[in-house]
Amino acid sequence: MPNIHLFRVEAPAVAKKVQPGEFVVIRIDEKGERIPLTIADWDKEEGSVTIVFMEAGTTTRRLALLEAGDSITNLVGPLGLPAHIARFGTVVCVGGCYGIASIMPIARAMRGAGNKVISVIEARSKNLLFWEERLRSVSDQLIITTGDGSYAAKGWIPQQLEEIVGGGDKVDLVIAIGCTYMMMLCAEVTRPFGIKTMVHLNPIMVDGTGMCGCCRVSVGGETKFACVDGPEFDGHQVDWDLLLARRSIYLDEEIHSLQGWECQNWYKF
Ligand SMILES: Cc1cc2nc3c(=O)[nH]c(=O)nc-3n(C[C@H](O)[C@H](O)[C@H](O)COP(=O)(O)OP(=O)(O)OC[C@H]3O[C@@H](n4cnc5c(N)ncnc54)[C@H](O)[C@@H]3O)c2cc1C
Ligand code: FES
Repeated sequence: MPNIHLFRVEAPAVAKKVQPGEFVVIRIDEKGERIPLTIADWDKEEGSVTIVFMEAGTTTRRLALLEAGDSITNLVGPLGLPAHIARFGTVVCVGGCYGIASIMPIARAMRGAGNKVISVIEARSKNLLFWEERLRSVSDQLIITTGDGSYAAKGWIPQQLEEIVGGGDKVDLVIAIGCTYMMMLCAEVTRPFGIKTMVHLNPIMVDGTGMCGCCRVSVGGETKFACVDGPEFDGHQVDWDLLLARRSIYLDEEIHSLQGWECQNWYKF
């Protein structure tokens, strides 16, 4: 996979407690930035958790260079509230980019709770798709869409969601994980139909325990901290403009950081 990586990390204490929808905060080394990553799977007996991450900037690029047997200085978790799992009826689970992995344990738990699960996953192109069979094995129906049409349907998740909810079949709940824009569009698709739509927000997080305020979001006019009150929230209540603006406040610093790191580490590529 060009820019998406899977790590199975030995973390028995985390694996013992984790529930679908929770995340870890990792720090590669003493000087490393703290970043949140969803726990995409786990093995309690082996004592391991699986993280799937997309190379976005300096930390995820550095993480991608680690090899089997290397260690990560800190991995804290499980953090956040678990996804609300219950018997709703028909649940549509959507995942784009890293969200393909993050949605898997939720789809699995939803099916285990007796729901009919329709999973919808998207990637820009066929070579960026992963976990097709894993998602199929935990879903009653799997819909795949690629932005360039190189595999399965052509287009993006919101179009597929529109077809499902507009198609007449009763949908009781939609859950979306992936890029902020995709989650926002999904919420707009379901709003006119009054279908409850839960989204897993991804604001910038630092401590992940409710202390720094960095992950502040506005939901239903109330200030929430995504790390302790979420990351799952009602997508129809989220102030998307605020979230999109806050996610890019450190863009200059992030570009500067990546350029500096690439200059110092050019020989590794
Ligand atoms: C609860 C949660 C779960 C997440 N799960 C996953 C996952 O399973 N896989 C995955 O690939 N990504 C996940 N993300 C996003 C991931 O944390 C960011 O891609 C990562 O922090 C980028 O760091 P960077 O240094 O590589 O890139 P940077 O260049 O620093 O940033 C790239 C983009 O990532 C966002 N970002 C930067 N720092 C943070 C931070 N500390 N916290 C959150 N976002 C940040 C910024 O909006 C920025 O535009 C999750 C985010 C949240 C909040
Ligand atoms: S990450 Fe600091 S309060 Fe949520």
